[in-house]
Amino acid sequence: MILQTIRSLLIFTRPYPWAIPTLVVLGLAASLAEGLGIGLIIPLLDNMLQGRGETAASGPLADLLGRVTAFVSGDHALLVLSLLIVGLVSLKTLILAVDVYVSTRVIAHSMSDLRVALARQLLLVGYDFFSRVPQGTLINLLGSQTYRASEALRALTTLIGSLSTVAVFGLLLLLLSWQLTVVVLLLVLPVWLIVRALAALAHNWGEQVVTSYSSLSERILELLVAMRTIRIFNREQAEVQRFAGAAQGVKRAYQRTETLNQLLPAVVEFLYVPIFVVVLGVAWYLEIGIPTLLVFLLLLYRLQNPLKRANTSRVILASYAAGIRDLHALLDRSDKPYLESGTNRIERLHDGIEFDRVTFGYTGTDTAAVTDVSLSLKAGSVNAIVGDSGAGKSTLIHLLCRLHDPQAGTIRADGIDLRELDLPAWRAHIAFAGQDAELMSGTVRFNIAYGVDEASEEGIEEAARIAQAHEFIVTLPGGYDAEVGPRGTRLSGGQRQRVALARAILCRPDILILDEATNAVDGVTETAIQAALERFSTDTTVVLVAHRLNTLKRAQHVIVMKEGRVVQQGPPERLLAVRGALQELYAAHHALDGRGATAPGA
Ligand SMILES: Nc1ncnc2c1ncn2[C@@H]1O[C@H](COP(=O)(O)OP(=O)(O)O)[C@@H](O)[C@H]1O
Ligand SMILES: [Mg+2]
Repeated sequence: MILQTIRSLLIFTRPYPWAIPTLVVLGLAASLAEGLGIGLIIPLLDNMLQGRGETAASGPLADLLGRVTAFVSGDHALLVLSLLIVGLVSLKTLILAVDVYVSTRVIAHSMSDLRVALARQLLLVGYDFFSRVPQGTLINLLGSQTYRASEALRALTTLIGSLSTVAVFGLLLLLLSWQLTVVVLLLVLPVWLIVRALAALAHNWGEQVVTSYSSLSERILELLVAMRTIRIFNREQAEVQRFAGAAQGVKRAYQRTETLNQLLPAVVEFLYVPIFVVVLGVAWYLEIGIPTLLVFLLLLYRLQNPLKRANTSRVILASYAAGIRDLHALLDRSDKPYLESGTNRIERLHDGIEFDRVTFGYTGTDTAAVTDVSLSLKAGSVNAIVGDSGAGKSTLIHLLCRLHDPQAGTIRADGIDLRELDLPAWRAHIAFAGQDAELMSGTVRFNIAYGVDEASEEGIEEAARIAQAHEFIVTLPGGYDAEVGPRGTRLSGGQRQRVALARAILCRPDILILDEATNAVDGVTETAIQAALERFSTDTTVVLVAHRLNTLKRAQHVIVMKEGRVVQQGPPERLLAVRGALQELYAAHHALDGRGATAPGA
């Protein structure tokens, strides 16, 4: 269990293969320096107690140190030995300082790498993945759990350091007196077993920590995104209640694990007390010399701290295991959808795009969102897709942008299956503006220039003019440098849409896709946008999802969707002239408001 967690943690430090061995060596060196420093007290005491009738030091370590220090006899012995002790203890402090530097560095670096790897994974994984995993879970993993992973890594380095000390001191104890060491081992064993049980407990509680943090993140996210709705619907109190519920879960999980983690050192210390008493008794029985016994007790006393830290680290590692497992699960590529990129490229769209009997359903749904769709979009033409909401219009566009691959049928660009095309190169042909006008926090200029690597001032303004955005942008405080706020919330819906449209136009795409991209803009402005677009992009293939009849009439090709199927397609004049789906769509609306300007579903 614990080994599994350690192995998972070590994967994070893989780019720094020198780190763990270095920490082991440093840990051993520091312990050895301290242990020998303490050991030198034996010859020191021997020297001091000489001729006072005390029992002399005994045991292998005492003999060894006695022989090594034999050269320092006489008048200077006390001074030299004292200096040696001070020197060794200083050396230990120095090594510890290096140890802290190395461990902190490797933790900081590998955790930063981990965060970047997670972000990369989210950006590369198939788009489908996001309909399956709650956003709160993802935020929790990227936020809290990476932090907890760094704590776990810290616990691991602590474990390495303290186990090094336990090993070295254990060896020294054994060399001092194997009988006493066996006694200590027998007494430490139950402590080890108790901590093992506590670690198992912490492991289970760790699971709750992760899930409770995930639901808390979900609540935070929804609170921020739906702030307006919550207030207008008077749900503040209810939302506070819901939030309190999620916070309660975190509280419970925190309380349990933290109590255990904080209490553990005290418990270990308490269990340690009898050991000293027993060791004293056994030493008296075995008639072990005072210098040896004193050093034995001193080492044993110094061993308390590393043992405490080793045990605590063990429990911390156990309680963070679930989070670490989930981080690895998110990074795992084997169980996630990925769109394979092809290698083919097209220079420019020459002939057009063809959907050939395309069927697609979203993961986790029984019914297909689009069924058996065949249609062709001629290069350089303006194409409109219409239909009730839920008819599958946006799905067609997702497929065209290759956010998903169809389950049956093929989509071809100039006769080449999209799956055979290099994915980034294909997307470079496309620019998109949608109903939601997803803006990023930053300035208006930043948002318009988002899709291109370098944009000139004139280019940005031209795009804004075509999108009928320039006029309102210059009235903003700061103009193009005005901040749009988080997700663009400082702009109105229609303004956001026009900025998003300018962003798409600036890319000068081969294929311009507008999915209800101007439905929050008034009709007059929309007509102006259309006229400007037509002048600007004579050889661009335009695909637009639109509802206004005026917009529709300007298209060369209209595709009418109903319940995931294409029910009618052709030039708008022809479709409007005959009885059919398009006429029905507009007739229904005509009856409602008599203007016939928009279709239902707008
Ligand atoms: N991410 C998704 N997961 C599951 N079902 C979806 C998802 N997106 C859309 N759908 C479903 O697919 C169908 C077509 O949706 P969509 O293409 O967005 O319709 P339109 O754009 O014409 O309004 C709808 O029934 C909708 O509920
Ligand atoms: Mg849609």
